[in-house]
Amino acid sequence: MRENDFIVSKTDTAGRLSYCNRIFIEFSGYSEQELLGQQHNIIRHPDMPRSVIHLLWQTLKSGEEFFGYVKNMTKEGAFYWVFATVTPSYSVDDSNTIIGFFSVRRKPDLNKLKIIEPVYQQMLDAEKTAGSRDAISAGTQVLTEIIEPTGKDYREFILSL
Ligand SMILES: Cc1cc2nc3c(=O)[nH]c(=O)nc-3n(C[C@H](O)[C@H](O)[C@H](O)COP(=O)(O)O)c2cc1C
Repeated sequence: MRENDFIVSKTDTAGRLSYCNRIFIEFSGYSEQELLGQQHNIIRHPDMPRSVIHLLWQTLKSGEEFFGYVKNMTKEGAFYWVFATVTPSYSVDDSNTIIGFFSVRRKPDLNKLKIIEPVYQQMLDAEKTAGSRDAISAGTQVLTEIIEPTGKDYREFILSL
């Protein structure tokens, strides 16, 4: 990503794309028609631990904003790293009702990626060893063991890197 790029997307409550900005379309390698209505996992990269995605959805469903480093995959199979903020959108009529989500992504700091990449690798390895059924708890445990000694929660940890 370039210094001043913002990659923006919006989804419905089920994670289906309802809006992508021009830079999203450019990076993804898909056309707007190919993206709209599709699940956001269209750009999922296999190197992203399932437990990070799980944490993203848990955070959103509890009404909170998620921050995280995400490796995405283009249509051609290349990858690009982003620092993502993913946020619930609330109904104007009922401030408790989530009507969808949106995400804004910026260029990640390369020094921070050097910290995150091995963490994700450890999480992925743990997920693979644990097998499909226990993958999320195994990956989450790796992350917890890394964060706990810092005395921070996930959000504080990510934002303090
Ligand atoms: C607003 C929003 C933005 C998302 N952005 C990404 C993203 O950039 N990359 C990604 O892999 N998943 C993203 N997700 C999560 C995907 O919806 C999906 O859960 C994930 O790609 C894993 O795919 P799976 O649930 O089929 O395993 C986003 C979800 C929402 C609601």
